[in-house]
Amino acid sequence: MSVNKLILGDNLEILKTIESETIDLIYLDPPFFSNRNYEVIWGDEGEIRSFQDRWAGGIDHYITWLKERVEQMHRILKPTGSIFLHCDWHADAYIRVEILDKIFGYENFRNLIIWKRKNSIGQSNKKSRQFGYNIDSIYFYSKTKNNTFNTIFMESNSEYIEKFFTNKDPDGRIYRLATLTSPSPRPNLTYEYKGHKPPEKGWAISYEKMIEWDKKGKIFIPDDTNKRIQRKIYLDEIQGQLIQTLWDDINVLSPSSKERIGYPTQKPEALLERIIKCASNEGDTVLDPFVGGGTTVAVADKLNRKWIGIDQSVQAIKVTELRLDKQRDLFSAPFSVQLHKYDYDTLRNKNAFEFEAWIVQQFGGASNTRQRNDLGLDGKMPDNTPIQVKRSDNIGRNVIDNFLAAVMRNDQKLFDKNVADKKPVGYIIAFSFGRGAVEEVARLKLKNNIIIELVKVEDIVPIAKKPTVSVEINELARDAKGVREIEFVASGTSEAGIEFYSWDFAYDAEHGFKADVMLDKEGKQTTKLKAGLHNIAVKVVDNDGLESIEVIKLKVNGTVERS
Ligand SMILES: C[S@@+](CC[C@H](N)C(=O)[O-])C[C@H]1O[C@@H](n2cnc3c(N)ncnc32)[C@H](O)[C@@H]1O
Repeated sequence: MSVNKLILGDNLEILKTIESETIDLIYLDPPFFSNRNYEVIWGDEGEIRSFQDRWAGGIDHYITWLKERVEQMHRILKPTGSIFLHCDWHADAYIRVEILDKIFGYENFRNLIIWKRKNSIGQSNKKSRQFGYNIDSIYFYSKTKNNTFNTIFMESNSEYIEKFFTNKDPDGRIYRLATLTSPSPRPNLTYEYKGHKPPEKGWAISYEKMIEWDKKGKIFIPDDTNKRIQRKIYLDEIQGQLIQTLWDDINVLSPSSKERIGYPTQKPEALLERIIKCASNEGDTVLDPFVGGGTTVAVADKLNRKWIGIDQSVQAIKVTELRLDKQRDLFSAPFSVQLHKYDYDTLRNKNAFEFEAWIVQQFGGASNTRQRNDLGLDGKMPDNTPIQVKRSDNIGRNVIDNFLAAVMRNDQKLFDKNVADKKPVGYIIAFSFGRGAVEEVARLKLKNNIIIELVKVEDIVPIAKKPTVSVEINELARDAKGVREIEFVASGTSEAGIEFYSWDFAYDAEHGFKADVMLDKEGKQTTKLKAGLHNIAVKVVDNDGLESIEVIKLKVNGTVERS
């Protein structure tokens, strides 16, 4: 099973299920303490409920609401772990004193980072009797003093720095070497220094300067006089300075940014990149309990961290899933999405081993990590009673017979004990069971006191019907070169209600759905298509997070044909 997962639900409940001291870094950007409607991002049931919840009783209520969540976050952090809590003026002072100092301890306060969002200030502010706000606060606390921390540099060009700044002075100062040769012939700068002949075009600095720099240790003079004198560029002198607590070099996303998904409060990837790089290492686990549109997990994934994202909005989880799908390639680690409901098709199409492991866990057991020599057993209950998973329908009698033999061979003593205690000797999980299997199980119980429990997938996880979608096409215009402007109108149906649509205008089944438009609430898009064959896919997502795809194949030539 992958560690990378997106989980739908109230983070308080989910955090309680995470084992203590297993997380390296937590970034959270909770909804701010503000009763403005613009704080509602997704507008779906889950979010509205949580919004009303937080607002019921003013600032005290908000602080209590957040505090019980941060208590859980503190518990699950490793001793080397850190938390970055993103907030603003509405509640930042309360959060520091009432939550973070109390839970993490004053002594584990590491920094208050000021992120200058650089929002332009609108006209209405001109008459205001106060200054405009253009900053957010990010509190950085660690669980202990022994926190993971990597020094990183401004411009986030640390790769460049690692590659070139490979020299160190005895006092520890890091430097790189650079040429001291003049780029154009300079006869007046052509002199010999400490036995080193001048370069053909002369030195870049005067003799006096050379002496001054030499005294200051700013030049490197090789012992071998045939080798060139070079200039030292110290890391602490260059533009790529160590990051301080004022972060004014990361802009808020512009409306046309490629990163933009289509919802407010989306944080820039560069902000998360800085936090993740400095407070975690590759392979570490990063958690965002208010994942929103998934900036944290998208960046964690790119930086080879493991990750967990939680949100109580179906839309947030599904948009994050689409975002991750879009950036995935052959080498990406798998991830799972935990919703409240599931549909048969998606479960049936899951990778077999992943499905077995997942359903065993949902059932309350532990999955078998060995894939071979396991007698066909896929997991066990906490008391070691075996579980087998069959990813099919109408399981027949032969499955029961084979399972019984495997269970006895697996642990005869346990088998005998379970029979004596009138407890199940094993569990078989499948989509459905045939009559033969049901009868055989009844016979074993009646004649031999052997109980095998048959469990349907739908008894373990709630199953719902997927939405359906149909698409109408309208040709709007055509230019002289034969490029068509085409309107696509999708209409979905679902018992749960439709949440949104997303579109891939160059769909390719092999690479999967890569959304060009992620969040389209109306289901209407217009695009220009040249002559040729086009595959356009639309995904419809419902209120349970269940989805369907419709692929439209279009042949654009003299006419537009749909096949
Ligand atoms: C400000 S947004 C996060 C934006 C995110 N940092 C990004 O860059 O996309 C806050 C998110 O918290 C979610 N949320 C609010 N209350 C929650 C709760 N109790 N449990 C889980 N998620 C919650 C909202 O649905 C919303 O998506």
